[in-house]
Amino acid sequence: MKLLFYAAKNYDKKSFDPVLVKYPEIEIDYIDHELEPMTAKIAVGYDAVCAFVSADVGAATLEVLHECGVKAVLMRCAGFNNVDTEKAKELGMVVKRVPGYSPESVAELAMGLALAVNRRLYKAYNKVRENDYTLKGLRGVNFFGKTAGIVGTGKIGAVMCRICRGFGMRVIAYDVYENPELKDFVEYVTLDELLAQSDLISLHCPLMDSTYHMINIESIKKMKDGVILVNTSRGALVDTKELIEGIRLNKFLGVGLDVYEEETGNVYEDRSDEIMEHSVTARLLAFPNVLITSHQGFYTMEALAAIAETTLDNMMDAKNGVRTGNDIA
Ligand code: NAI
Repeated sequence: MKLLFYAAKNYDKKSFDPVLVKYPEIEIDYIDHELEPMTAKIAVGYDAVCAFVSADVGAATLEVLHECGVKAVLMRCAGFNNVDTEKAKELGMVVKRVPGYSPESVAELAMGLALAVNRRLYKAYNKVRENDYTLKGLRGVNFFGKTAGIVGTGKIGAVMCRICRGFGMRVIAYDVYENPELKDFVEYVTLDELLAQSDLISLHCPLMDSTYHMINIESIKKMKDGVILVNTSRGALVDTKELIEGIRLNKFLGVGLDVYEEETGNVYEDRSDEIMEHSVTARLLAFPNVLITSHQGFYTMEALAAIAETTLDNMMDAKNGVRTGNDIA
C-alpha cells in the first residue's frame, strides 16, 4: 500500500519512520509540496495521501485525487475545516483524521501563551539579554482567584479546564454539549455570560459556519477590560481586524495566538526575507501585548508519535474498509 505524504518536514519523517516499522504493508513517499489541485496530480499510483492543516483539500483537489485513483485522504491533524467532506462522500473517498492525539500538548501551550502574555515573558527575555533589568512593561496579574472561561470543552478544552483549576481559578465554560466529566468543578454558562465574567478566555471549539468570527467587535465589547484572550484552535474563530479594533480600545491585558487568519501561507515556512505588503498579522505583531506562535500546539514528542501511529492505523482501516470514529467522510 502506497502513501504519498504531502508537505513533509524533517520532524514528520522522524516521527513516522520509527512507527512505520510496525506496518510492513505500508510504503511512504515524502514530498515537500503542499497538497492542492495542482500537486494532487502527483498522486497517481498511490492508494492514499496524507495532508496537514494548510493543505487545500477542497472539491478541486479531491476530484484530481479521485481521477488519480487515490482512495483515501489521511489528515494528520484533528481540525478538518480545510476538507470538503461532502465532495469526498460524493466521490466515494474515505477521509480520516487524528481526533485526539495529545490534548495536553495543545492545552499546555494555551496556558503557556496565557502566562507569557500576562507576565510579558517575551519582553522580559529580551530585556535581560540587553542588560536592561528594569521592570517597565512587565506587570501582570495573578491567575489565582480569577475566572477562566473555556469555549469548547471537548478533549483539549477539558484539559485546559483542569489546568486552570490547578492554578486556583474559577472555571466557567460554554459549549453546545456539556462534558459530564467536568461537572464537579466547571460551571456551564451562556457565551455572553462567559464573555462578561472571564479574566482569561481560551478558545477550544472547532471552526464551523456557526463559530466563524465568534470573537468580533460585538463579543469583544462584552468582555471585561483587561481580559486575556488565547486562541489555539483555528484562526478564523477570531475576526482579526475587529480584534485589532478591540486591542486599540484597550480591552486586552494580553492576546496569545497559536493560530490566526492569515497563517495558511506562513505555517512552517521561513518568510523572514519577504515584505508582507497587506499583512494584518504584521499589524497585530506591532502591539506589545500580543504574542503569536506558528501553529505549534501539536508539536511535542508525545503528540507527534501519537499522530504517526493513528495515521498509519487509519491507513490500515481505510484499506480494510473499517469505519471508526476517525472518519470524516
Ligand atoms: P473536540 O471535538 O474534542 O472538542 C470540540 C468541542 O467544541 C466539543 O465539545 C464541541 O461540542 C464544542 N463545540 C462545537 N461547536 C461549538 C460551538 N458553536 N460553541 C462552543 N463549543 C462548540 O476537539 P479537540 O480535540 O478538543 O480540538 C479542538 C480544536 O483544537 C480543533 O477543532 C482544532 O481546530 C484545534 N487544534 C489545534 C491544534 C494546534 O496545533 N494549535 C492541534 C489540535 C487541534
